[in-house]
Amino acid sequence: MDTVIPPTIDVHLTPADLRAAMEADVRSGLTSVPKQLPPVYFYDDRGSRLFDEITRLPEYYPTRAERSILEAHAKDIVAEAGADVLVELGAGTCDKTRVLLDAMRDSGRLGTYVPLDVSDTTLWEAATALSEEYPGLTVRAVVGDFHQHLGQLDGPGRKLFAFLGGTVGNFTSDQRAAFLDGLARTMRPGDCLLLGTDVIKDQGRLVAAYDDAAGVTAEFNRNVLHVLNRDLGADFAPDRFEHVARWNESDHRIEMWLRSLDDCRVRVADLDLEVDFAAGEEMLTELSTKFSRDALRDELEACGLAVEDSWVADDDEFVLTLARRP
Ligand code: SAH
Ligand code: AVI
Repeated sequence: MDTVIPPTIDVHLTPADLRAAMEADVRSGLTSVPKQLPPVYFYDDRGSRLFDEITRLPEYYPTRAERSILEAHAKDIVAEAGADVLVELGAGTCDKTRVLLDAMRDSGRLGTYVPLDVSDTTLWEAATALSEEYPGLTVRAVVGDFHQHLGQLDGPGRKLFAFLGGTVGNFTSDQRAAFLDGLARTMRPGDCLLLGTDVIKDQGRLVAAYDDAAGVTAEFNRNVLHVLNRDLGADFAPDRFEHVARWNESDHRIEMWLRSLDDCRVRVADLDLEVDFAAGEEMLTELSTKFSRDALRDELEACGLAVEDSWVADDDEFVLTLARRP
């Protein structure tokens, strides 16, 4: 009978690092045209809970679609990857991960799980729960940024890197190229990447998924203003900013914006910065790119990863791609 192995946590992003990055990002984002903020600041404890709520909304299909692919094919994925170490980037609550861990356990390959996330509380809660649910599993949680800390994920064993949920779609194309390149260099020959990506589809369906009737996504979007108020002493009035979700046809992406309802001046005390918003002015808070399968294959192959297999949800809603570093 395997015993429960307590999880460990490696912190590559200290509160001081996070603060310095936030100060730089907010100063440059609020002084650029159009104003913009990186999506990483959505995910404090409240934002992580709101995202979790989003995953259960009737309009938000990606989580259900990806889960259905995992439930149907986790056994094949695990057999093809042949890994005993699962590394998950932007792991969040690690909910869908359990489907992969079950398949690894059933095939006698369950060794180590390495979840990486910026959101330390969510990560620690998930790591603790998983080590209890999977006796014998070594859980080595990493608090880090997937744009900066891929190099810290090295370690023994054949690895399966999982990047689920379509989070790669939240990157700009330059960020995506740098990320895939860095990841391919972190992977050792034989290691695999399991990448979840959302698919271009009917615009109405896409917009509804990012503008749900219950207003949870709107609250998730506005959460970034609460984060700036609390962490940087800003004085945004979040309820005076309207949630906007729009399909950008030429770049194949949903964009989330916050539109100021008034002419207002916002002061960010800790940055000694004042910025003006005109009534109707919009600030970009997130991109969520949707892919065609060929485009993704080209991008993976451009950084030396060979696509071995891919699986789609029943009605072509979402794709999981398995690529190997030769
Ligand atoms: N993989 C989960 C969660 C997706 S939500 C799923 O498929 O449902 C996106 C996750 O990425 C959140 O947990 C958030 O905290 C994390 N995240 C966002 N930006 C990050 C960054 N720059 N580095 C590491 N993690 C990040
Ligand atoms: C985490 N990421 C893949 C989500 C998405 O669909 O782009 C974040 C999200 N934003 C609004 N709803 C969900």
